[in-house]
Amino acid sequence: MSRVIGISRVAIGKHIKALRAQGFDVYAKPGGGYTLDTVSDVLGDGLIMSYSKTDADVIVLETVKSTNIDAKAWAEDAAVHGAMMIAKTQSAGRGRKARHWQSVDGGIWSSTILRPTVAPNDIQPVTLAAAVAVTQAIKQNNPDAHPLIKWPNDVLINGKKVCGILTEFVGDMDAVRYLVVGIGINAAFSIKDLEGELLYTATTLQDENIDINRSKLIADVRDNLLALIDIWTETKSASHIIQYYKQHMAYKDEEVIITGAGHDTTGILVGILDDGTLKIQTDDGFEEVISGEISMRRNNHEI
Ligand code: BTN
Repeated sequence: MSRVIGISRVAIGKHIKALRAQGFDVYAKPGGGYTLDTVSDVLGDGLIMSYSKTDADVIVLETVKSTNIDAKAWAEDAAVHGAMMIAKTQSAGRGRKARHWQSVDGGIWSSTILRPTVAPNDIQPVTLAAAVAVTQAIKQNNPDAHPLIKWPNDVLINGKKVCGILTEFVGDMDAVRYLVVGIGINAAFSIKDLEGELLYTATTLQDENIDINRSKLIADVRDNLLALIDIWTETKSASHIIQYYKQHMAYKDEEVIITGAGHDTTGILVGILDDGTLKIQTDDGFEEVISGEISMRRNNHEI
């Protein structure tokens, strides 16, 4: 190997050590040389870039408080449209409604910076696009998986949450300076490793026996997201996002409770409108819900 590549054995040893530190399974063969058994599930910036269609930077960090916080600092500094920051663990991961987001090793905790030229009032499709991008990527990597989107932007597998999205906006009344799209995917760990009663409401790709390569999956998520956003900004229409969303919507035609929008509303979920508004049929007729969360009772558990 040393002769073929033209570097010393010691130098090769150093590279092998670095690869092992990144999580690659490199074995030293008894007769000399090395073998790499699988590239199955290493989360690394070089690997992600090798799978990516875009040249925008990717940074993979060991641990941060929250990638959404650090990505904002990066966006203020130099990060371009499409740049993505990932952490292997987060000590203060943030969820929607100021909830804590448990971010253990094995997940994919990412924040992508977007710089679309749109008005702040028009950014609703971004968060729907993120849910679509994750759903598409899970299916691209596992044709047998059937992810569905729980309005507005949770991704479910077998009725349990596998991905949450927190989109943050920085700008003023007139213009978007940038958006940080935080996407957390429960991937290569078991939901049993998390604290609290999550067994009935959340899951992981591993628990659902969905084999994944985390670097490939997140590269596809970002490519999908950027493609959806490009079409949206070019055509000024979100119909391509809404169309896919409608076909992958959880709880359609089922009875749901909408919470967090001032008052709770119970009704049959009819679908979403072209601007992302949820439409439900109550005893009093149709109602349109702009914000809130869907919940329902299943097997005596609120989900
Ligand atoms: C939700 O409540 O469903 C949204 C969860 C979003 C979690 C992701 S993980 C990466 C990014 N950094 C954070 O602190 N939060 C988001």
